Amino acid sequence: MIDNRQYSLHNKVALIIGGTTGIGLASAKAFVACGARVVVAARNLGRGAEAELQLRAFGDAVFHPCDVNDPSSVAELVAFSVNRFGQLDCAVNSAAYDSKPATFHEMSNEDAGNTISTDVMGIFNCMKYQIEAMLHSGGGTIVNVSSVNGLSGVPGAAMYSAGKHAVIGLTRSAAKEYIGRGIRINAVCPGATETPRRERRTAHYSDDQLLAHKEQLAQAIPIGRLARAEEIASAILWLSSPESSYVVGHSLVVDGGLLA
Ligand SMILES: NC(=O)c1ccc[n+]([C@@H]2O[C@H](COP(=O)([O-])OP(=O)(O)OC[C@H]3O[C@@H](n4cnc5c(N)ncnc54)[C@H](O)[C@@H]3O)[C@@H](O)[C@H]2O)c1
Repeated sequence: MIDNRQYSLHNKVALIIGGTTGIGLASAKAFVACGARVVVAARNLGRGAEAELQLRAFGDAVFHPCDVNDPSSVAELVAFSVNRFGQLDCAVNSAAYDSKPATFHEMSNEDAGNTISTDVMGIFNCMKYQIEAMLHSGGGTIVNVSSVNGLSGVPGAAMYSAGKHAVIGLTRSAAKEYIGRGIRINAVCPGATETPRRERRTAHYSDDQLLAHKEQLAQAIPIGRLARAEEIASAILWLSSPESSYVVGHSLVVDGGLLA
């Protein structure tokens, strides 16, 4: 377990969207461990209640439902966070659509549209209302979760890759626009990370297929293994903290050396 308590986030208010599982939940745990007050948001109420219970064992945290595809849902979530804790200091945007792997010409228009709706418009919706709240309370930090696939092409996941490239574009543009007004915006680009999302993708594999798949993946990564969600959360926490105060509009690659 990584100890991140050195970061100055005590009493900060953090909103983690897509915060009930995987990288988002690991980030929420890291914020709570640093003494931040945390709102986690996602669509699934059951997973939300479970995440809230886990987080409350360590500090002040609450779940609130939200669908990033719906601007009014995001606006309501941000208003809830500010009402609950008085302000918004840090935001992490980790939600993404579970697109089905498909070659370019076989990709359904529906899947392509859903990917862009959640991964691009969803991030836009989140940032728009988070920025508005942070302007009101005098500044803050935003970390968007992109991917190594936002920095390179991916056979079988063109729209996911396009969406993650767009997240970097949104991050860089907004970072330049708002750093003069006290809002520091960055992105993190994880490589393959052990999360429920990855488990869902391989759920239909036999044990042997799963082992072979994991070995093949690990061999392609210089460090020789997938990331743990808390290793990505650690980078997110640093980008959210005053300890990274001169880092602006950056896309921090956390990939075990894959893109090196
Ligand atoms: N796991 C990996 O290998 C990997 C690698 C690179 C980038 N990423 C990125 O990291 C982020 C988190 O992925 P993860 O692996 O932790 O996945 P995950 O499925 O475990 O978590 C995704 C979270 O987003 C929420 N979510 C999905 N759609 C939503 C919506 N419309 N509105 C609100 N919440 C929604 C889910 O409920 C869940 O809490 C994603 O942006 C993903 O693209 C993951």
